[in-house]
Amino acid sequence: MANPNKIAPGNVDGDFFVDTSCISCGNCRDLAPSNFAKSGKYYVIKKQPENALELDEVLSALICCPLGSIGTKATGAGAKQSISQALMRFPEHIEDDVFYLGFNSADSFGGKSYFIKHQDGNWMVDSPKFSSRLVKYIESQGGLAYIFLTHRDDVAEAQAYARHFKASRIIHKADLEAQKEAEIVFDGIETFNPHAQFTIIPTPGHTMGHSMLLYRQKFLFSGDVFTSRTYSNEDIEAWPPYYCWCDWDEQTRSIERLLSYPFEFMLPSHGRRFKGTLPETKRALEQCLKRCREEKNPDPLSFERADFFDEIALWAKQTGQLEYAKYAADKASSIRLKLN
Ligand code: SF4
Ligand SMILES: [Fe+2]
Repeated sequence: MANPNKIAPGNVDGDFFVDTSCISCGNCRDLAPSNFAKSGKYYVIKKQPENALELDEVLSALICCPLGSIGTKATGAGAKQSISQALMRFPEHIEDDVFYLGFNSADSFGGKSYFIKHQDGNWMVDSPKFSSRLVKYIESQGGLAYIFLTHRDDVAEAQAYARHFKASRIIHKADLEAQKEAEIVFDGIETFNPHAQFTIIPTPGHTMGHSMLLYRQKFLFSGDVFTSRTYSNEDIEAWPPYYCWCDWDEQTRSIERLLSYPFEFMLPSHGRRFKGTLPETKRALEQCLKRCREEKNPDPLSFERADFFDEIALWAKQTGQLEYAKYAADKASSIRLKLN
């Protein structure tokens, strides 16, 4: 529950607010772009909802906030009913048999996860919180056969889901450390097809084991490489080099290989989804690739980059990812050592 005594600076007055437990994952802005914005260390309410659509979007953000940092001062039966109705919207239907699960986990820095209802066994892509509501929903849909993990950062509670549903976790060997007991491990950069409608495409760069899942040549679950500025068919963009942990040039080569795979939906872990026709997504990907080629690997020796790794280390520590916290803290100190 968000704490009205710890409202983050920068919220506009009104019913809704963000408190200082916010980790700045940005998921609220993805879900309610008219109402949330970054202000200093935190995301805040930049505008209170003014119509039914905005109210729905803000309530969705409240449900999906990984830390429960979004609150409302409204009390009474009406407010409770609105929150209950918002809860019922998750999992959110995207199209065909694909759903956004909601209930983002702080362990994946608020990453999104998805559900595919399939006659040969249901799939989860990356992991949300282990929520009783989601468990009941998945049970009602016939359980879970596979959990595809795009990369090491977004495994969250995959182990708990795998045990509960006896599902097989699938992850690339290079990121296996994050899910050591995964049942299905693949390697290299060749595609891997566990089923005729599911193609796993290794896309190293963000991490060396980063991979995407292409479902029915229509839905591309793209992990932490892409976002989109809009839900319309304007563009696909790569997250800037600061968010590419391993190798920007390798990631750019991965994006180039993606050009041979058709898709209509780009469904990211962080950021906004993209939908277009096949020619539109291809054009958007080509433009994204062009911009990536013009970018350079970030300067590994800057105080700004050291500060960035400090933030990552703090988040990893707060969420109990101690190995990851150590990796980020070591990275920050080695940068500072070289600079001094
Ligand atoms: S979703 Fe929650 S934790 Fe993430 S930026 Fe918004 S308020 Fe902060
Ligand atoms: Fe990541």
